Amino acid sequence: MRHLSATLSRVKPSPTVAMSGRALELQAEGRDVIGLAAGEPDFDTPPHVRAAGVAAIEAGKTRYTAVDGIPELKRAIVEKFRRENELDYAVSQISVGTGGKQVLYNALMATLDPGDEVVIPAPYWVSYPDMVRLAGAEPVIVEAPAEAGFKITPQQLRAAITDRTKWLMFNSPSNPTGAAYSESEIRALTDVLLEFPDVWILSDDIYEHLTYDGFRFTTPAQVEPRLKDRTLVVNGVSKAYAMTGWRIGYAAGPEPLIAAMRKIQSQSTSNPCSISQWAAVEALNGPQDFLDGWRAAFRRRRDLVVARLNAVDGIDCATPEGAFYVYPSIAGLIGRRTPAGKVIATDEDFAMALLEEGGVAVVFGAAFGLSPAFRVSYACSDEMLEDACARIGRFCAGLG
Ligand SMILES: Cc1ncc(COP(=O)(O)O)c(C=O)c1O
Repeated sequence: MRHLSATLSRVKPSPTVAMSGRALELQAEGRDVIGLAAGEPDFDTPPHVRAAGVAAIEAGKTRYTAVDGIPELKRAIVEKFRRENELDYAVSQISVGTGGKQVLYNALMATLDPGDEVVIPAPYWVSYPDMVRLAGAEPVIVEAPAEAGFKITPQQLRAAITDRTKWLMFNSPSNPTGAAYSESEIRALTDVLLEFPDVWILSDDIYEHLTYDGFRFTTPAQVEPRLKDRTLVVNGVSKAYAMTGWRIGYAAGPEPLIAAMRKIQSQSTSNPCSISQWAAVEALNGPQDFLDGWRAAFRRRRDLVVARLNAVDGIDCATPEGAFYVYPSIAGLIGRRTPAGKVIATDEDFAMALLEEGGVAVVFGAAFGLSPAFRVSYACSDEMLEDACARIGRFCAGLG
């Protein structure tokens, strides 16, 4: 269509949405499909947070607010960074948006021009490269394979940086692999970044609270304070507080960047939902102890899925440090044929056939920039996971 912008042709629709769309269609036809594709916790928003949302409605806190967040929420965020990340920010260095997604989008829109480059380790969260392209810039993909723990090395980072590099996108724990960088692994990267004063760090810490086996989460600006002035730390309440539908994300960083992000938000969505902001104040300031139970459940499910998948011939699954994803390789299944006669040439073929013939929805690795693999979200009940892994086992055993 002539009316559509040229920029749009550089961007593809989210493949995760396409997979879950097909899964919904099959379910609507009455087919029994287990969904392991969704990127959200299966827990409910904690009762005290829900109550804060209801109280906000009852108190009439239902009007426009300041564009990038109410002062109460910004103060709660400042306090969160001090308490959990040893990072000191002023309220003027905080931006609140409609999900971490909008905050990331604002930051990229506020900083990128055509010709600029953004270094993105792969596998990456699906939205990063397309957001960069929407802003007119170029993603520079650096592959971090399973053998490297899905983490890039300092040598790779140095090699990827050019005089056009504006950002390193850093996401730990990661969607889609669950891999998390230790403090010393972060230090190895921040040492490189110290050599390149024009490269900024966009640290997406949204899975911060979901790490297991005693892993200690750290974030680049905390590990290397000399980089704090060129780091934007992005976080949100979606994953840690099971608040995906409330749409609150936030960032902390240099004041001029925060002001630029505010300008963009002021001309697009304005403030994030007022009710959700008050609920987020309670999420950040209220009790955090429920998280231990969630973490224990996620760890148990991770171990279950990793063990079951590794028992399947042709699948190889690493045990990640965090988030609620695993990212098994299917290198051993490429070239095989399904009972319905489909040849599995790519991980997209695998995911489609597993959905159509095996009744399990997952997301194929090509969506995240590293193949052949697939992403499993284990944010669902143990029973569903057992059933889904048994189905995956039967499907793979049936391949010719
Ligand atoms: C790595 C990563 N960053 C950011 C987001 C954005 O989350 P939200 O917009 O719900 O805050 C997600 C959600 O899936 C994610 O996986």
